[in-house]
Amino acid sequence: TQQTPFTLVLFGATGDLARRRLLPSLFALFRDGRLPAQWQLVGVGRSERTSEEWESGLVEALREEKPDLEGWQDDWAAFAGHLAYFQGDASAAGDMQQLATLVQHERCLYYLSTRADLYGSVTRALASAGLVGPRASIVMEKPIGLDLESARAIDDVVSEHFAESQIYRIDHYLGKETVQNLLVLRFANSIFESQWNHRYIDHIQITIAESGSVAGRAAFYDEVGALRDMVQNHLLQLLCMTAMEPPHALTADAVRDEKVKVLKSLRPLDNNVIPEKIVRGQYQRAGDEPGYLADIGAEDSDTETFAALKVEVDNWRWAGVPFYLRTGKRLAERACEIAVHFRPVPHSIFTQQHRAAMANRLVFRLQPDEGIHLSLSEKQPGAGMNIKMSELSLNPETLAGKRVPDAYERLLGDVLADNQTLFVRRDELMAAWEWIDPIIQHWRHSGVRPEPYQAGSWGPSAATLLLARDGRLWDELA
Ligand code: BG6
Repeated sequence: TQQTPFTLVLFGATGDLARRRLLPSLFALFRDGRLPAQWQLVGVGRSERTSEEWESGLVEALREEKPDLEGWQDDWAAFAGHLAYFQGDASAAGDMQQLATLVQHERCLYYLSTRADLYGSVTRALASAGLVGPRASIVMEKPIGLDLESARAIDDVVSEHFAESQIYRIDHYLGKETVQNLLVLRFANSIFESQWNHRYIDHIQITIAESGSVAGRAAFYDEVGALRDMVQNHLLQLLCMTAMEPPHALTADAVRDEKVKVLKSLRPLDNNVIPEKIVRGQYQRAGDEPGYLADIGAEDSDTETFAALKVEVDNWRWAGVPFYLRTGKRLAERACEIAVHFRPVPHSIFTQQHRAAMANRLVFRLQPDEGIHLSLSEKQPGAGMNIKMSELSLNPETLAGKRVPDAYERLLGDVLADNQTLFVRRDELMAAWEWIDPIIQHWRHSGVRPEPYQAGSWGPSAATLLLARDGRLWDELA
């Protein structure tokens, strides 16, 4: 239960994710009274600093990330009383033995927010320091590995020391409010599920657009690129949540069984179709806006900062319904949506030329403004028969008058409650990599370079063409 005292050991404690997302989320749980009376957080990092120095870095990040947070100063001191910094090499058994002397509770959570190629050695060092008991869990950030082979190698080592029920492979997109609302909308309303198939749906678009650059994470990003950073995990997970069959229950395995089935139904890609179905881009300087190479301080790089894909799900429900996915850095806006485009009416008694434009669209808006919007045709008042598109909207923020918790809050709370529903199971991780791997291999061996796009635009023209070839357009996201 959440009343059990725990020790959270956070590897990568001085990193971006820890400072900007994890600590603020843990603080929010603390302020909501969702942590037990006794708990401790040990932040592990290589750099030398005192606990006070580390803490003041956290405060600085909190101010930057949550400028509107009220009254937090009153709670910070009590929160910070639970924190300590430990300088050490997470893959050195000796350092981990020293760490063991600081651990106060049997229930231990190890959060790996370092480079994934260290996950194996950190796990080994923890095990040899006697830190992996039956009450221990491990949380791993994505991307786990750089391709199928390395993912398997990393996961094998972790699985040697932790049982699957102790392993939390985190994908924070699953913790976003609208993604859980997608489950409710689909499975708690009879009117949608009956339409949720190739008979009524024309195609689906999933976009994760970011306006930010890669500044501050250049070394990490340049090795990884958009395909591994966003597609292998976040985009495929959103696709799974949209496409899966109704699970028989809201339990971890029931949900994950259905997601694995979707991943296994993705039409496999081979070298002949990859260039046609997958677009790769890299942002370039536009006016005063620097390009990718300037941002990472390199002369050359063929890392993609943009990817767009046409994905086919070869099963009964989705036959003939393409899923178009796209993501990129330095795009015109930060916005994330899953847009379900329904088929137009089979025969219009109104103006024919607007038939397609008046097809219904159900949009799950993940950010920046969470909500669900269904577009419908309605008559404009007055003489004649003029039709316009209007929207029915659900917006959890205004409906509940409540703050929408950050994804990491939800997920950290789930780890503490031993709930794996919103975490990725091993077979799921492997199925996702199996589908992605041919793309990585193709890019590696064919030497295809990313197509340039202007910083601040919507990506390379090839992405527009990808849909235009099918007679479609990307939705405009504002
Ligand atoms: C992370 C990626 O997983 O997700 C980042 O590594 C990306 O590159 C981030 O910026 C986006 O998350 P969010 O929640 O801000 O949309």
